[in-house]
Parts: sequence; C-alpha cells; structure tokens
Amino acid sequence: MKGIILAGGRATRLRPLTTITSKQLLPVYNKPMIYYPIETLIKAGITEILIIIAPDYSGHFLNLLGDGRDFGAKFSYAVQKEPKGLADAFIIGADFIDNDNVTMILGDNIFDQDFSQEINNFKSGAMIFARKVEDPKRFGVVEFDKNMKAVSIEEKPESPRSNYAVVGLYTYDNRVVEIAKNLKPSDRGEIEITDINRIYLEKGELQVNIFDTLWEDAGTFDSLLHVSNVMAQKEKAKQVQG
Ligand code: G1P
Repeated sequence: MKGIILAGGRATRLRPLTTITSKQLLPVYNKPMIYYPIETLIKAGITEILIIIAPDYSGHFLNLLGDGRDFGAKFSYAVQKEPKGLADAFIIGADFIDNDNVTMILGDNIFDQDFSQEINNFKSGAMIFARKVEDPKRFGVVEFDKNMKAVSIEEKPESPRSNYAVVGLYTYDNRVVEIAKNLKPSDRGEIEITDINRIYLEKGELQVNIFDTLWEDAGTFDSLLHVSNVMAQKEKAKQVQG
C-alpha cells in the first residue's frame, strides 16, 4: 500500500496566514499541520509516501520533512502547479503508485484514530470514511439506506441527504489511476474525488466506514483554532499522566 498526502492548493480562505507560508505548514498547537496526516499514514503502516505540494514554499516542506528518515518513512515529492482537484493526485502520482493500492490523505485533515485495521484488511475496490457533522454542505455527503448501505454520494450538495461527511482519507485499488484520468471537470473546474467514489459505488465496490472520533478539516480559521485547542488539551493531559 502506497500513501499520498495532498498538500497543494493556495488556501486563499486562510489569508493573510497563507500569504507567507503554506496552509499545511501552519501550526496546529505545537507542530506543523502536515505532521498529523503523516502520523495517520505511518500509524496505519504506510511508510512509502508521496507528498504533493504547490510550487510556492515547496522548499520549506523539504527543509522540514526531508526524505522521511526522521519519521521512519520514505518521502518523495511532486509539485502540483495548479489546483485541479483532489482526483488529480492519482494522475500526478501514477508512476509512484505503479501497480500498488493507494491511500490518500488530505494535508489539512486531522484525525486521532488508528486506521491500520481497516487499511490492512483492504483487498480491492474503494474504501472511504464518513463522520456525522453539523454542516454537511461543506463536504462530500454520503447517504445510507436503512441497512447502512451507501446509496448516494454528492459533492457539497445544496440539500444534503444525510449528515454524514466523507472525510479526507481514501483507499483505492490500482484502477483509481485510470478512473482519475478519464474524469471530466465539475462545475467548479476540478476533477472530483466524489466522482471517483460514485464510480466505485455504482460498481457495488465502495465500502464506507463510519467513525466518530476527532476529525477536523483545518481549512478555516475556526477549525484551525478548534483543533489546536483540542490537541493542546490532549498534550497537557498526556503530560499530567506522565
Ligand atoms: C474535499 C472533498 C470533500 C471532502 C473534504 C474533506 O473538499 O472534495 O468531498 O468531504 O475534502 O475535507 P475541499 O477541501 O476540496 O473543499
């Protein structure tokens, strides 16, 4: 299983913070945001990781993370010149993925959970994770039938069919590369990971795991502040336990 961290984009919503650095290098309490997705992948047993970054500040990522040795991992890097959508990661990463399966995590998604069991048990198809949220309109939304089988998936719907957001952690078999290459851009001009998930759903090969531990898409001022506070409390509790 290969790993990809997508840490591209311009993060204009976080200006002026992102006028001087990349969103994924901003602090979340006591470490740069990107440490969290790195740790999530490594905890899941994935150590061969491609980090996709925007051209601006790309040197900062290299200075900070190097070849991955300090993390017990092997990092390689690719530059995404224009933010063309999440699905673009599988086109940029095609050579890196080679003939393997792949797990992608978004560089601003912060979890506090060990996904190793689900990822180790993955055989084929697609596997995504969903979590109940207050504001599903901001996300990909998955709808379930009464047996909790996924029946639809939509990107940022006006009228969400459920409160379950699709979070930024996705595992696919090798077919994802070809699927991504054949996608058409959406109305917002991006190739959407939600379209990849819908293709697997229509084949009956989309597994959706619900979880309820911490998840934050740290792409807004409020979510960045919230997750920093949560992590500060956790760190302090750890120190007390000592
Ligand atoms: C992206 C995905 C969306 C997903 C979200 C998770 O949204 O398109 O389906 O729910 O990440 O963070 P974006 O961050 O591009 O708005």
